[in-house]
Amino acid sequence: PAPHRIQDRNIVDKEAVEAKLAGLADGTLDFENTPDTDPDLAGNRAWGRAIVDKMVDSTLGVQAVAESMIHTEAELSQVIDTAVAASESWVAMGAQARAAILHRAGAALETHRADLLEVMGSECGKTLDQGDPEISEAIDFAHYYAQRGIDLENVDGATFVPSKLTVVTPPWNFPVAIPAGSTLSALAAGSSVIIKPARQAARSGAVMVKALWEAGVPREVLQLVQLSERDLGTELVSNPHVDRLILTGGYETAQLFRSFRKDLPMLAETSGKNALIVTPNADFDLAAKDAAASAFGHAGQKCSAASLVILVGSAAESKRFHNQLIDDIRSLKVGYPQDPQTQMGPIIEPAAGKLLRGLTQLGEGEKWVLEPKQLDDSGQLWSPGVRSGVKPGSEYHLTEYFGPILGVMTAETLEEAIEVVNGTDFGLTSGLHSLDPDEMGYWLENIHAGNLYINRGITGAIVQRQPFGGWKKSAIGAGTKAGGPNYLVGLGSWEDAPVTH
Ligand code: SER
Repeated sequence: PAPHRIQDRNIVDKEAVEAKLAGLADGTLDFENTPDTDPDLAGNRAWGRAIVDKMVDSTLGVQAVAESMIHTEAELSQVIDTAVAASESWVAMGAQARAAILHRAGAALETHRADLLEVMGSECGKTLDQGDPEISEAIDFAHYYAQRGIDLENVDGATFVPSKLTVVTPPWNFPVAIPAGSTLSALAAGSSVIIKPARQAARSGAVMVKALWEAGVPREVLQLVQLSERDLGTELVSNPHVDRLILTGGYETAQLFRSFRKDLPMLAETSGKNALIVTPNADFDLAAKDAAASAFGHAGQKCSAASLVILVGSAAESKRFHNQLIDDIRSLKVGYPQDPQTQMGPIIEPAAGKLLRGLTQLGEGEKWVLEPKQLDDSGQLWSPGVRSGVKPGSEYHLTEYFGPILGVMTAETLEEAIEVVNGTDFGLTSGLHSLDPDEMGYWLENIHAGNLYINRGITGAIVQRQPFGGWKKSAIGAGTKAGGPNYLVGLGSWEDAPVTH
């Protein structure tokens, strides 16, 4: 089939949406009486001044609704009051009973795997090979946090008092795993949740939330809203009843929300500029394969993606590494997710701003090893780009692009390579390819990043095995790692200091 704009594909009935938008603009639209509002969502939200421009439609029966609905202040306080009131019975239920619901949530996500894959693909450009493990990650979060909630209740000498209301603002690039993980962590801890899925991932968020409701999470305890960023900040986050914010997104976004309410505890996972160091002692075939997958999985639109490869010493001259890397990247099948063989999908929106610069402009001394090409007129489908000659301190070295570009740098020594990695503002994921234990030890001691991977790709952290979270400008707030044993602790406080023996 001919490629299409993913954004267009979501608009099932463009005319209806345009009519809505026109109605909104002239004030004639009465959202309470809009016939295609979703009956399942209706009890859960007041449409208020809703504007909707993306369709929600799935086998779960969500009818066409557009976005981004904006709650009036009065409606929003009703949503907040409902959440706060519901938290009492959610806490009283106890961690065991909540865990049973969370385990059912894991099963419900499994039941809806195909629905989720469809919406993630059509809405966010997730290919099958990326979307499928992402759903598994969401399911892992359900079962893992269920148990951690029970653990919190069993700490001797102290009572865990959960946040009453946690606001969750996930990104579009992991449209299921991150919203699900954030929501499930707060639910397991005993908190009510208001989730505002990313505008570009509204359907995926809605399908995920409906699966959780289906599993028995009360609708008052988990509510779904759409708000503009401004309203989210000024009306929701500023509300004193909100006592935690789980945010995943850019560092600037996190700062913006922090500016709305400085005293609000935030668990924020933000930007990255991640590198993979390859020394002369690496298995070059494996290093090349991992670099290609880490750089171009989901077209590089991961905070964990490899944006730099740093070749140490004679590794820079390795024909084996070079040829393998280029072969691996050239052989990636680029296309749309509706073709199950696609290995690298589109970027979420037509390239613009710094990403467009990264795809089209070289810095001083840099050259294209593979020049990115626009493959159709959507502006969203690009072939992978590789540039060499990136210099420390250059724009490419320091900027997060969030797209299908990889830069290659060289360093005389491992020490120098580590300096280059530590020289950015971020510290999320980092990789080393070397079979030398001394190099491994030195790198582990000196690298500044949250998730360190040796002889492995640097994306795709596994729940429990590789708790996920960064340093420096890659994280703000409590500093606990998602999918790790302490994450839930950040979602409440202790009534007495825990007794340690
Ligand atoms: N947890 C994801 C990864 O490890 C990023 O959010 O790739």
